[in-house]
Amino acid sequence: MSISVLAQNLSGSEIIKIAGEVNELKRQGQNIANLTIGDFDSNIYPIPEGLKAGIVDAYNHNHTNYPPADGMLNLRESVSKFLKKSFNLDYSSNQILISGGSRPLIYSTFLAVVNPGEKVVFPAPSWNNNHYSDLLGAEPVMIQTTAENNFMPTADEIRPHLKGAALLALCSPLNPTGTMFNKKDLEEICDLVIAENKTRQAGEKPLYLLYDQIYSQLTFGDFKHYDPVTLRPELKDYTIFIDGASKCFASTGVRVGWGFGPANIIDNMKAIVGHMGAWSPKAEQVAMASFIMDDVAVDTFLSEFKSRIQDSLTALHEGFQSLKAEGFKVDSIVPMGAIYLTLKIDYSGKTAPDGTVLKDSADINFYLIREAGVALVPFSAFGTGDDVNWFRASVGASTLQDIQQLIPRVREALLKLK
Ligand SMILES: Cc1ncc(COP(=O)(O)O)c(C=O)c1O
Repeated sequence: MSISVLAQNLSGSEIIKIAGEVNELKRQGQNIANLTIGDFDSNIYPIPEGLKAGIVDAYNHNHTNYPPADGMLNLRESVSKFLKKSFNLDYSSNQILISGGSRPLIYSTFLAVVNPGEKVVFPAPSWNNNHYSDLLGAEPVMIQTTAENNFMPTADEIRPHLKGAALLALCSPLNPTGTMFNKKDLEEICDLVIAENKTRQAGEKPLYLLYDQIYSQLTFGDFKHYDPVTLRPELKDYTIFIDGASKCFASTGVRVGWGFGPANIIDNMKAIVGHMGAWSPKAEQVAMASFIMDDVAVDTFLSEFKSRIQDSLTALHEGFQSLKAEGFKVDSIVPMGAIYLTLKIDYSGKTAPDGTVLKDSADINFYLIREAGVALVPFSAFGTGDDVNWFRASVGASTLQDIQQLIPRVREALLKLK
């Protein structure tokens, strides 16, 4: 055995396998609408101008040495004001941690509150919780959600699993579905966490709630973002929020994330992030601190950005609804938030023109990549079974025109299946 047990057991990303297929076809000159990556094409969705200018300026002023381990104080103060303005949440600078994007915040939350072997409860489909559980040797408890509830977990589904659990990991708007908690469902889940903690003895580790709201600024129409601490203030001692600039400011490569929660947990997460060296670069922190305080720049960017993302999601949703109306076995859930649309393509068991039988969602996906030039990600990449014929479509790397043009191609490809 030449590598560690942990390294052997880590599973690679299914999305990377799909990306390999897409890149190979592109190399052969094919035009593929790549709806796989939860990222942006930065020529279609560049970062805010003021943020870009601020980053360049910070480098010109030599902000190039180590930042403080918990992030620059003025950025933590800006985040504190931003949270107050955006969500009416009260967090002071010592309850906020900055890191290089929000992934290190999620991993350090797991490391700070979960012991190896303890239960981590999360829904499937969801993003990466399985990998963080694996890294820690925790016991993942995946709750399989249903299309009827927009693939959001319900209190009834979660209830049987909380006894003795160390962490409940939730996300809204959810990657991969783009769907969100409504107020009542989230309240019921909050009440479960409160009830479970009431059963624990003094000195016993409580059940913590990780609440990933990285897409919370990207909600559409009447869909409103809710968070556990606003709904149930007594959860403030147990909730660690994950948030940051990557998605709402199209800044995935800028690497500024912010987490916030009880000061003692944040302090431990700070030590972990520090040992990993997973800080956010100092120049980006300096620029972010002033950008998020510029209300006009933030609001102007968000309203234009959101409306373009919403137009793309709506075009895809309406395209799939028109295929459904024609009798194709497809469906989609109305866009609510994030940059994702949930699509159903119910064609497993069908035979392709070359005689291959499409056994499962992965086969359907590879068929659509080759026949329709459209690449999606099956929910099986996010922890569901292979038999779940639902897919994530991410619109961040495509233009509206790319999306409008892919619908007839999907139609043609589906017509060829027998
Ligand atoms: C739900 C969710 N949380 C966190 C992240 C991580 O974002 P970052 O790029 O800031 O590390 C992602 C990225 O895809 C995400 O989808």
